[in-house]
Amino acid sequence: MTGPIVPAGKAEIDVLAAIHATAFSAGDAWSRDVFDLQLEMPNVFGLIHRDGGLILMRQAADEADVLTLAVVPAARRGGIANALLLEAIDAAARRGVRTVFLEVSTANSAARALYTKTGFSRVGLRRLYYADRSDALVLRLDLTAPA
Ligand SMILES: CC(C)(COP(=O)(O)OP(=O)(O)OC[C@H]1O[C@@H](n2cnc3c(N)ncnc32)[C@H](O)[C@@H]1OP(=O)(O)O)[C@@H](O)C(=O)NCCC(=O)NCCS
Repeated sequence: MTGPIVPAGKAEIDVLAAIHATAFSAGDAWSRDVFDLQLEMPNVFGLIHRDGGLILMRQAADEADVLTLAVVPAARRGGIANALLLEAIDAAARRGVRTVFLEVSTANSAARALYTKTGFSRVGLRRLYYADRSDALVLRLDLTAPA
């Protein structure tokens, strides 16, 4: 893998937690321990964008979930999340994933626009899913569908 996107391993935990802390409110940001536990799992993989972004995915057989995606506020609207998402989807496909799922708050218009642009479509709604009482949309991307 060359360019600004590199695999996220245990050595990157400080960077991951620092990016997450800038992207989410204090109650929602993941600590070093959370990243440590996630990356402990053999079916979880992550990517870091050197300009300030991260994505973690978890694979289960031929399905994967986006666990988290974040870009530091100062670097937003530069295509970082888009690049991370596409690269992670590619990596998932190489691992045999056929369907990617994620949850996004109905209130998160930036992320919803990103996922729609990437081709995700709505397959469910989880009411009062988040701490702020917003609902979660469950979105799916079928990697076997013709582009
Ligand atoms: C959502 C988030 C990851 C987007 O990161 P980003 O690097 O700014 O996104 P990109 O520059 O790659 O944008 C890709 C597309 O997403 C959409 N988008 C991104 N930010 C947007 C915004 N603020 N408003 C509307 N659309 C937006 C656009 O369609 C955009 O394409 P365009 O720039 O060609 O119009 C970032 O805002 C973030 O970290 N937010 C806080 C954490 C979060 O909500 N994570 C997702 C949880 S599910």
